Amino acid sequence: MTHNLITGTGSALPATRVANDDLASRLDTSDSWIRERTGIRARRIADPATTTADLATEAAARALEAAGLEAGAIDLVVLATATPDLTFPATAARVQARLGITRGAAFDIAAVCSGFIYALAVADSLLKAGQGSRALVIGAETFSRLLDWDDRATAVLFGDGAGAVVLETRAAVPGETPRGILASRLHADGRHEGLLYVDGGPGTTGTVGKLRMAGRDVFRHAVHNLTSVVDEILAEAQLGVEAIDWIIPHQANLRIIEATAKKLGFPMAKVIVTVDEHANTSAASVPLALDVAVRDGRIRPGQLCLLEAMGGGFTWGALLLRM
Ligand code: COA
Repeated sequence: MTHNLITGTGSALPATRVANDDLASRLDTSDSWIRERTGIRARRIADPATTTADLATEAAARALEAAGLEAGAIDLVVLATATPDLTFPATAARVQARLGITRGAAFDIAAVCSGFIYALAVADSLLKAGQGSRALVIGAETFSRLLDWDDRATAVLFGDGAGAVVLETRAAVPGETPRGILASRLHADGRHEGLLYVDGGPGTTGTVGKLRMAGRDVFRHAVHNLTSVVDEILAEAQLGVEAIDWIIPHQANLRIIEATAKKLGFPMAKVIVTVDEHANTSAASVPLALDVAVRDGRIRPGQLCLLEAMGGGFTWGALLLRM
């Protein structure tokens, strides 16, 4: 019996921090409105020369360093993004090349804010299927490029960044509690496209397009879907919510995070929150939050962690792992 264990985490943020007051100077909004409705205080915004691959490569290099591995040991690069550098090749292939990896597989996953959960589940499955024994799994975005900076209802919510993990196959040690990814559940329901989408693309307008969202409807679906997928994965694992040491949720909005925790009966003291400083970084948000909490010593080896996210599509999912 083998499991795929996270052996290193890393992240990268653009240097420029944009506080709510900076946005209020050019949009009809205020720091208090944004903080009360979302919990967001600031976000990082990439300069025009920085791409998703730049942030992803930096995060991946840090994860490799934390795992004590050379890039050449990696068999698989899976990168979740909604903001690829180019239509093709995949941003994962660019990252692979920059890290000096010349073998194995590399591809992108498009599941928007659920992208990292999808990527981790897919990488776990591929390693189990024999594609290799070490994967780099990355969530990276320059989401600021998709924002309509005249739309106060969406422009204030998002930011740029990247997070990465190294996943390595380990044989279970008889008599020891298994560590690594224990279960994952992925969902999609394409009927809700109109509630959260980008109004462009190579196959339609020939432009990149801008993000459009019916915020109130997305909020409602998010709390419902996240609670139900967490219930589903816990039932599958035959665990109660009290067995979980940490929930690392998608960082879209503090009110969504709190409402989901309340419905689950889970204490906020054991929920990792970075939305205040990062805002919603889409596919990067879960690995960014994970890296912050691993590096500040809250998340420790042996602890049971639950990752969950919901995003455009709709897509949503959860993943249970022991660090
Ligand atoms: N500053 C000030 N006022 C704003 C504003 C802003 N940045 N954005 C919207 N408003 C206004 C609206 O125009 C509206 O004004 P009106 O009543 O005069 O029409 C009012 O605030 C209420 O808007 P509403 O959209 O109903 O607010 P809300 O309480 O639902 O909060 C969100 C809006 C976007 C914060 C909230 O719906 C949300 O977080 N949704 C989920 C979004 C999300 O996380 N999506 C990504 C999931 S992956």
